[in-house]
Amino acid sequence: AQEVAAAAPQNKEELEQFRLKFLGTKNQLKPLFGEMRNVPNERKKEYGQLLNEIKQAAEAKFYAKKEALERAELKNYERIDLTAPAQPENWGSRHPVALVMEEMLQIFERIGFSVAEEREIEDDWTNFTALGTPEDHPARDMQDTFYVKDPEKMVLRTHTSPVQIRSMLKQKPPLRIVAPGRVYRNETVSARSHCQFHQIEGLYVAKDVSFADLRQTLYYFAKEMFGATNIRLRPSYFPFTEPSAEMDVYLGLETERDRRLTKGTGWLEVLGCGMVDPKVLENCGIDPEEYTGFAFGIGIERIALFKYEVDDIRLFFENDQRFLKQFNPVL
Ligand code: PHE
Repeated sequence: AQEVAAAAPQNKEELEQFRLKFLGTKNQLKPLFGEMRNVPNERKKEYGQLLNEIKQAAEAKFYAKKEALERAELKNYERIDLTAPAQPENWGSRHPVALVMEEMLQIFERIGFSVAEEREIEDDWTNFTALGTPEDHPARDMQDTFYVKDPEKMVLRTHTSPVQIRSMLKQKPPLRIVAPGRVYRNETVSARSHCQFHQIEGLYVAKDVSFADLRQTLYYFAKEMFGATNIRLRPSYFPFTEPSAEMDVYLGLETERDRRLTKGTGWLEVLGCGMVDPKVLENCGIDPEEYTGFAFGIGIERIALFKYEVDDIRLFFENDQRFLKQFNPVL
């Protein structure tokens, strides 16, 4: 038994020696088994058990070593166990704001809008003045502005509307763009509002663009995005559109969710819009006698809150994995 325990065959030859010695046809245990008949009856059981244990130990050692030596001979790729379960991988997930944004952009791209993107730090003229809000105009109070400490009076853009200006300065009509991006307002952060959020700006400038074109475009959007059966445009005010309107989509009152989210009216407010003010076209060197246009601005978080029934806008900016993991995985 000690000999079996002490043996440590290192290669094929030593392993074969080990086999011949303890397991082969002429192995050392055989004569000991033969001695059985000389053992007194009352000790036969004990003696037999002892021999069997030695034999089993030798067998176990032989097969374990044999396998180890064979494995060591394999190439790396042959050692891979193809039957092993795959490692679970953490792919991450799309952000709900990105998902809603992507869905909206695709709807507008299908009807000929192309995506434009612009800077988040804007000059005062592009964010306000060119859009019909001169300095000291009370309309600037509509949007609490973050000013950048800078003699040039730079601001964190308060809306995506300055992309209208930059697009019109860059390109002659016809012009049909949707511009997604982040905007900033100096507001108290709460469950309902945040100092940063996202918008998609829409702009269409060409010959003979009418209010009916605006309505029809927005109706198509409401149908595709919300499955809405109707929209309504309520009169509103923006310094850069005339006339201006607020669009509501009709979701109906059939489900508990729609009743709750529309506060029992069936209507949900979705965006601000209007016909581009002739003065704005002029500010961009476009002749308002020749061209007309419409514009709209959609707040993304508002829609994402509604769509995913999230009750606190701050969740979108906290990067809490427990929240984010609930949305579509990346591929
Ligand atoms: N810029 C406006 C806002 O932030 C929305 C808007 C865009 C309204 C385009 C009309 C036209 O509230």
